[in-house]
Amino acid sequence: MCLPAHFGGVEGVVEMAWIKVANVTDVPVGHMLYVDLEDDPVAIYHAEDGFYATSDTCTHAAESLSQGRLDGHIVACPKHGGKFDIRTGAAVAFPCVYALQTYPVEVRDGEVWIDF
Ligand code: FES
Repeated sequence: MCLPAHFGGVEGVVEMAWIKVANVTDVPVGHMLYVDLEDDPVAIYHAEDGFYATSDTCTHAAESLSQGRLDGHIVACPKHGGKFDIRTGAAVAFPCVYALQTYPVEVRDGEVWIDF
């Protein structure tokens, strides 16, 4: 599906690619799942209020965030303890200062899909 989009005053077309990444039952509440999409690592999070997705690679020193710990909406990196808000991708604890890429997530008939 393609939708018209505007970036900085430039009109263009954005490719929308919804991809099934898991079944809801694959990721219990409070857990994470690593998925490799076209060589881009993505972390899927199941929080109390639903699913979220971000890039899996910590912006500090390239550790896999899905190997860390999820506490509410905050994921802690296992390497140096930096933290990110999975809702926005924002870095919320040092040494992380750069945000993660986030992806829209939908649950459809028991399946988790992301717009990648
Ligand atoms: S690699 Fe994630 S906090 Fe350093």
